[in-house]
Amino acid sequence: MDQDDPGEAMTELQERSIGGLGVMQLAVGAGLFVYAVWAGFLMPGFRRVPLKLQVPYVPANKRQVQNVLNLLQGRSGKIVDLGSGDGRIVLAAYRRGFYPAVGYELNPWLLRLSRLHAWRAGCAQRVCYLKEDLWKVNLADCSNITVFLAPSVLSLLETKLLAELPNEARVISGRFPFPNWEPTATIGEGLDKVWAYDVGHVRQTMAERAAAFEQGTPV
Ligand SMILES: C[S@@+](CC[C@H](N)C(=O)[O-])C[C@H]1O[C@@H](n2cnc3c(N)ncnc32)[C@H](O)[C@@H]1O
Ligand SMILES: *[C@@H]1O[C@H](CO)[C@@H](O)[C@H](O)[C@H]1NC(C)=O
Repeated sequence: MDQDDPGEAMTELQERSIGGLGVMQLAVGAGLFVYAVWAGFLMPGFRRVPLKLQVPYVPANKRQVQNVLNLLQGRSGKIVDLGSGDGRIVLAAYRRGFYPAVGYELNPWLLRLSRLHAWRAGCAQRVCYLKEDLWKVNLADCSNITVFLAPSVLSLLETKLLAELPNEARVISGRFPFPNWEPTATIGEGLDKVWAYDVGHVRQTMAERAAAFEQGTPV
């Protein structure tokens, strides 16, 4: 074939244009690619976490972080962010006076990014990011907790937190509320909405509900 002939080059191009099978191959290829990015880049470190408990990284925006801090106002001491992402909540809480400020995160890239952010903010020695599965850490010594997770895991998290946290603990949930708990306070609208739960209050309302149920008047 004469490479200089534009007409012939055109026909060759047309012959190579993709048919139905090609489209399908492309789709499968794209699917595999997305999966590879998901598994290898976005969710590394999650091999031991059951699929239904895997929550992807979606960072909190400025207003959400602000709302979290507002609902923690007046508190201090140790703060823990479960699934700390790039560490923005931990860092912001530290700057509001919480110490120690701890984030649990499994994704090694996000852990590196968190440490880089902390270092750039001059807080490298003051905040702490730990590579731990949030389902496996014992939270008995934590009473100021933040979570930005997915609705699919919040019911299970309720059970874990009720089993471990002291009554004076306050849990702040961003974006989605806990399905069975009664909040003490909320702030913000839509996706920026944030809920605060005082564990003692949650235990009390649950006990009242159970008692009412036993008397045949469920509330
Ligand atoms: C929706 S993001 C929130 C990130 C951060 N808290 C924020 O608000 O910007 C949830 C994070 O939790 C992490 N994560 C999910 N499951 C986890 C687990 N079992 N243990 C530790 N981290 C987890 C994910 O890697 C992700 O970074
Ligand atoms: C959480 O905040 C409360 C209120 O400021 C404080 O008394 C408590 O010590 C904090 N929790 C921890 C574990 O430091």
